[in-house]
Amino acid sequence: MTTLDFSDRVVVITGAGRGIGRAHAELLASRGAAVVVGDLGATIDGSGVEEGDPAREVAEAITAAGGRAVPCNADITTEEGAHALVDIALSEFGQLDAVINNAGIVRTARFDEVPYEEYQRHLDVHYFGPLRLCRAAWPHLIKSPAGRVVNTISQAMLGNPDMSHYGGSKGALFGLTRNLAVEGLASGVLVNALAPGAGTRMAEASADSLSPEVMEYMRTQLRPEHVAPVAAYLVHPACTVTGEVFNVAGGIVNRLALVNTAGIHDPALTVDTVADRFDEIMAISADAIPQVVAPAEVPASS
Ligand SMILES: NC(=O)c1ccc[n+]([C@@H]2O[C@H](COP(=O)([O-])OP(=O)(O)OC[C@H]3O[C@@H](n4cnc5c(N)ncnc54)[C@H](O)[C@@H]3O)[C@@H](O)[C@H]2O)c1
Repeated sequence: MTTLDFSDRVVVITGAGRGIGRAHAELLASRGAAVVVGDLGATIDGSGVEEGDPAREVAEAITAAGGRAVPCNADITTEEGAHALVDIALSEFGQLDAVINNAGIVRTARFDEVPYEEYQRHLDVHYFGPLRLCRAAWPHLIKSPAGRVVNTISQAMLGNPDMSHYGGSKGALFGLTRNLAVEGLASGVLVNALAPGAGTRMAEASADSLSPEVMEYMRTQLRPEHVAPVAAYLVHPACTVTGEVFNVAGGIVNRLALVNTAGIHDPALTVDTVADRFDEIMAISADAIPQVVAPAEVPASS
């Protein structure tokens, strides 16, 4: 049985003061990693900051349990915030090996009722935040023997009621994940994503877009601790894939794969051909080609 060791890993985790991010931090620290517990203490819709200091609470709990952790209240939507998270990893632990972009916000509303500034806020937290942190961390991830990035996307990017602003921003992060994975090929920095499900405060805030049965299932069966093992694996040197997405909830782990269907090829294509052969275009047959960033193992970091 494999026992993965993280004692030589330094990991920055955003949104680690609550929910899923907290579970990531606690698991990694319990396995020996040094963690930067990043959390601004934001309100669920990202419109402000709540009382309390969840990052400090989590870091103190980890330290009390014998782990290595330092809190950071940086706002990931700012350039200074991104650099603060990286700087504290370097000053406290001397290196940076991995980043888990987990911080998130949500509010459910119809797409034509959401103000544009709220679309922007979702992009700032879910897309520009991870982008800024990756840019600040990248030179250090390249130096690491195994630089890793994990982004947190959502099934909502594939379509959920009343979540266009949230799902759209997660879709942008999915595209960023794939493109950074390509950027990382030359230096061995691997960039993957997970789409979690867990009964957190965010799940409660999304209740309007989910059925009562699903909400009850999330509250009782889907724990943040079920998500953390996949995030931890993806930041370990044992992980060799890049540009991949994993759905993770309640002990279920599967790969969200993109495929190009075999489709049709007709140089004399007409609209009538499209109509006549539409079923062939749609069919996911054994000839469907997975859309991967790296078909095999990628080189180790320099
Ligand atoms: N819970 C689910 O079922 C679910 C489903 C799909 C995706 N997700 C994603 O998983 C991640 C974690 O969600 P969660 O359910 O644990 O939510 P949560 O609300 O419990 O935790 C999110 C944390 O992010 C922090 N945060 C928000 N904006 C920030 C900012 N600008 N700077 C720093 N920290 C900030 C908050 O303070 C909060 O502690 C999010 O990215 C979310 O979109 C969750």
